[in-house]
Amino acid sequence: MCGIVGYTGKSPCGGFLYEGLKRLEYRGYDSAGAAFCTTEGIFCQKKRGKVQNVRSFCLRRRETTGIAHTRWATHGKPNDLNAHPHVFGHFALVHNGIVENAEALRSQLLTPCRSETDSEVLLHTIAACYEGDLLQAVRNALTQCSGSWAIAVISDYHPEEIVCARRQSPLVVGKGKNGIFVASDVYALHGLCEQIFLPPEDSLVRLRRPAAEREEAERIEGIAGDTGVTGGAGIAGVEAFDMQLSPLPVLPQAMPPMPPIQSIGHRTHMEAEIEEIPRAVSDTARSLAQANLPDLPKVQAVFATGCGTAFHACVAFRYRMQRYGKPIIAEQAGELRSGCVRFPKNSLLVAVTQSGETADTLAAIRLAKSQNVQTLVITNVRHSSAAREADFALFTEAGTETAVAATKSFNCQLMALYFLAAKCVGRPVPDFTDLPSLCEAAVEADVTQAVKKLYKKRGMFCLGQNADYAIAREGALKIKEICYLFSEGYPAAELKHGSLSLIESGFPVLAIVTQKSALKKMKNTLREAKSRGATTLVLSQYREALAEADVPVLLPMAEEDLMPILAVIPLQKIAVELCLKKKLSPDYPRNLAKSVTVE
Ligand code: AGP
Repeated sequence: MCGIVGYTGKSPCGGFLYEGLKRLEYRGYDSAGAAFCTTEGIFCQKKRGKVQNVRSFCLRRRETTGIAHTRWATHGKPNDLNAHPHVFGHFALVHNGIVENAEALRSQLLTPCRSETDSEVLLHTIAACYEGDLLQAVRNALTQCSGSWAIAVISDYHPEEIVCARRQSPLVVGKGKNGIFVASDVYALHGLCEQIFLPPEDSLVRLRRPAAEREEAERIEGIAGDTGVTGGAGIAGVEAFDMQLSPLPVLPQAMPPMPPIQSIGHRTHMEAEIEEIPRAVSDTARSLAQANLPDLPKVQAVFATGCGTAFHACVAFRYRMQRYGKPIIAEQAGELRSGCVRFPKNSLLVAVTQSGETADTLAAIRLAKSQNVQTLVITNVRHSSAAREADFALFTEAGTETAVAATKSFNCQLMALYFLAAKCVGRPVPDFTDLPSLCEAAVEADVTQAVKKLYKKRGMFCLGQNADYAIAREGALKIKEICYLFSEGYPAAELKHGSLSLIESGFPVLAIVTQKSALKKMKNTLREAKSRGATTLVLSQYREALAEADVPVLLPMAEEDLMPILAVIPLQKIAVELCLKKKLSPDYPRNLAKSVTVE
């Protein structure tokens, strides 16, 4: 979470930093700030709310070294004081991650912190360690810390340098014509530099701009700790590492920052991304056809993991694999990694992650690797940490997804997982030829009546059976996430085992019925709900199921195996339309960020 961008070089950097922040805003948008330094001091402004709030400050500054941050709060409320950069004496810092022992460190500080953040504690510790060398100060402070971090630190004692460090949080260094950049995400650097360098796990890097009288070119120096060592010890035994610069990866179109809404012809980015689904599935089908996979039928146990939407794709995968008779466990990454799981011999971990940067999913991959288990990632971002760390990768081609609520990436994840399921059992892979046109039809589904019925409701159920249950969970998540309406994705047959008591007159029950085998059971469940006063909404391609509905939503008719990929589309549309009707912002739901890089 949170976005970092920094620059030291020959040019005034306020514009670069602001541009970088705009591109990183999808990582968190509850506050933002920037700090610049010269020998005369540190100049900082930080404000609650969107990046836009620090625009005029950034664009006015003429300094050539600076750091900036867009925040998603972990320690302390989103307010001006808790926003980054933190400034203390001659030092300023931006931080992504969590210093887990911040409270113990706080009690040792001589000067009280002004904010509630763990990050400011780290800054005070750095200042206390300073004896003339900024890199050494950062290094000594970090040896006292446990947790995760990507940091960038500046000091007016050294206005020509930025010291950065990372542990379990992404950080990228970029070299441009006129200076050196650092950012938490390569998106921030696009168009600003030509080459990048990815600091290894548990490393420190010093970026130094040329002081005309001393040096010709910028310098980047780095030191690495013991990769993977937790606690502070990793940083202590440092050694220089090889600084290999590589070309900036070519990024897909529609990069953050989001182009202005007017220019994309939609009211919101989420809407635009739903409309892009036909293109996304068509490109993903092409990408899957080129996949390079291990000998999967030899794998004995498959574990599937991910978070949020990505996990829902794993649930759909589980049903498909079970139908093929292949043993599978699907578990949320946060649970899997903390559950002391012992993977049986000859297992495969399938990790699904749009961004490839989700902390819990990365931790699950690392856990599997530590037990010598093969790992396969399904991701939308080729240069992501997950793609680099896993043994194998299947790439979805959803294109950049900027709206916080995942849409097109989910459809593509389902495709990749259905493809993988077939590969795991040596069956022919699904035929996706007609999928783009079927998705086009699903995008056209009329959801107006459904939105009207849900407006002003305070809760709802989304029901389904087997793969439709996975879609029900995803639909419920979309509605919670952007409409702030409590909705629960539930297996239809479970309703009568307790939750039916919640149903009263007008309570909405939405059912997804795409599998003929589930028709009878779903009809029973809908009738049970209706006889207790529920308002029923049904998404189906079958007239028989639609006849049970107060509000029917007709799905395009396709081969049943592909139906979950289509059925989710009207649910995504219901969420976005309901959100707009409630005058909320689907692209920036409260409390959330696109990429959850903290645990
Ligand atoms: C879904 O709309 C979410 N915003 C969220 O659940 C997301 O899918 C989850 O955080 C996982 O992200 P990832 O796919 O980038 O790992």
